[in-house]
Amino acid sequence: MFSQTDFVHMERALALAKRGMYTTDPNPRVGCVLVRNGEVIGEGFTQPAGQDHAEIRALKDARSRGHDLRGATAYVTLEPCSHFGRTPPCANALIDAQIGRVIAAMEDPNPQVSGRGLAMLRDAGIEVRCGLLAHEAQELNIGFVSRMTRGRPWVRMKVAASLDGRTGLPSGQSQWITSAAARADGHAWRARASAILTGIGTVREDNPRMTVRAVDTPRQPQRVLIDSQLEVPPDAQILAGAPTLIFCGVLDHRLAERASALRDRGAEIVPLPNEAGKVDLPQLLNVLGERSVNELHVEAGYKLNGSLLREGCVDELLVYLAPSLLGMDSMSMFNLAAPDMLEDRLKLNFHTIERIGDDLRILARFAPHTVPGADHAAPSVSK
Ligand SMILES: NC(=O)c1ccc[n+]([C@@H]2O[C@H](COP(=O)([O-])OP(=O)(O)OC[C@H]3O[C@@H](n4cnc5c(N)ncnc54)[C@H](OP(=O)(O)O)[C@@H]3O)[C@@H](O)[C@H]2O)c1
Repeated sequence: MFSQTDFVHMERALALAKRGMYTTDPNPRVGCVLVRNGEVIGEGFTQPAGQDHAEIRALKDARSRGHDLRGATAYVTLEPCSHFGRTPPCANALIDAQIGRVIAAMEDPNPQVSGRGLAMLRDAGIEVRCGLLAHEAQELNIGFVSRMTRGRPWVRMKVAASLDGRTGLPSGQSQWITSAAARADGHAWRARASAILTGIGTVREDNPRMTVRAVDTPRQPQRVLIDSQLEVPPDAQILAGAPTLIFCGVLDHRLAERASALRDRGAEIVPLPNEAGKVDLPQLLNVLGERSVNELHVEAGYKLNGSLLREGCVDELLVYLAPSLLGMDSMSMFNLAAPDMLEDRLKLNFHTIERIGDDLRILARFAPHTVPGADHAAPSVSK
């Protein structure tokens, strides 16, 4: 159905899309390549929200170089948009430019708009095909797909552990178990996320900043703290800089003074109690979805990790394993109870395993994710 040349151009469009890995949020990362008579005449990728989408950049690129766009083929990694958002519809721009053929990697995952951009193009007489390298395109925007189809972010839980699965000594000392290379790699995963989530135990123990530092990025993810009783000290590093979002339990008069001190530090406090008076974690994901969080990066201790896992709030584990042993009294990754029967164990699939410096990086997933409008098996990872 697709030629070798089509694959080459779509691979290039995907490579362009990856250049927006840290910047397009909350919009998807999209790339576009324009080809006419076998020659690449324009390229582009999505700019930060409110600025040009990939197709517009590619059209401008081609025009700036004096190319005739009529009859050209546009390779786009996501269906061109059909609605007026912060920018006009890209489908219209392609029609106005008299593009002859559009090849898209995948449909827009939003069920409300999915297929409309492609239909607009077809109605204008443009030849349209969809599904080329769909797995790769969906991997690139796994969080956007999750938010559009489930209303909640893709949740990636990062853990750094010894080979015997321990994350810190009984004393609480945990810095550092993995190598500098693994920690820098961890920052790249932070950088692509819309938000970084941690728990009050980690803040108490480590006083982390939860910012991206080892990677050059113009955008810092939203920091999110789960703190039922608003115990975070107002001088905690996680509160420095841009406002941190704090989810707590019941926000009554007992917490009023603490809440006020934290608001003075710029924090936004959202009470979201569950029946136990802690934070309702599934509901928290819905709230973050409403706030346009695509990928949620979790870096918490074993207690919050365990709660998130028990409540079905995790899509994949990003585990760095160091070649060392800390012993059975040291902290585990998750405070999960053992199942009664082996068949009830939590099962995952290894998605990728790579060596990073002296350590191993394992990406493991709970459930397959599907691409709207494309026929595929398990997607492959890209980063
Ligand atoms: N190696 C790594 O990758 C890594 C990453 C981060 C942190 N750490 C280490 O983890 C240690 C801290 O562990 P930790 O387990 O105390 O920290 P944590 O998981 O970050 O935070 C624990 C807190 O989360 C609360 N929590 C759990 N579920 C909740 C829910 N549904 N709603 C509200 N609160 C909830 C717990 O309350 P309850 O006790 O009431 O359940 C507890 O107070 C530190 O030593 C840190 O260095 C390691």
